[in-house]
Amino acid sequence: MKIKCENLTDTKKLANAFANNLPTEGCFVSLYGDIGAGKTTFVRFILKALGVKEKITSPSFVILNEYMGYKMPIYHFDLYRLENEGIKTIEQELAEYSKRGTLTFVEWADFSQGMLSYDRLNIKIVYPEVVEYCDDGDNRIFEFEPLGNENADFVNKIMRDFEAN
Ligand SMILES: Nc1ncnc2c1ncn2[C@@H]1O[C@H](COP(=O)(O)OP(=O)(O)OP(=O)(O)O)[C@@H](O)[C@H]1O
Ligand SMILES: [Mg+2]
Repeated sequence: MKIKCENLTDTKKLANAFANNLPTEGCFVSLYGDIGAGKTTFVRFILKALGVKEKITSPSFVILNEYMGYKMPIYHFDLYRLENEGIKTIEQELAEYSKRGTLTFVEWADFSQGMLSYDRLNIKIVYPEVVEYCDDGDNRIFEFEPLGNENADFVNKIMRDFEAN
């Protein structure tokens, strides 16, 4: 399932659709995409839409940011800087934060060495390779791969909401 975002306004609209339809038990989201694809930007828009008041920064250096201002805990990982050994040190946290009742995002999920919860939503952000019209560099394609029925249902709701707004 793919959604085209032509600019930041579209990405924000998609983040709002995510926030509006977030299941009450939360979600575990693995984010894929190159440096600068928009992973942190997308998470920031979602957290703002959920009413998080704290400053939302990239977890690239600190590996994990936690936000407790929402009705469930929110965890935002970035695995990019973790070496193989480092990944092992966060294995327990990843398992803990994939339980129901939390909202967890993992940037650079590629480096997780198979430690992620099965029941997750994979989102890949890609720059379109062929740009057929005037392009200001803000185009992104969001590819959703939901694992499990609940995530499939969630993605259908996001799509419907995005297209209706
Ligand atoms: N449609 C769009 N969606 C998301 N970001 C966009 C879009 N258009 C332009 N941008 C810009 O692209 C940049 C994305 O940076 P961001 O830090 O979110 O990327 P990232 O995927 O988290 O990278 P990293 O792997 O380094 O953590 C931002 O400067 C953002 O403003
Ligand atoms: Mg980032």
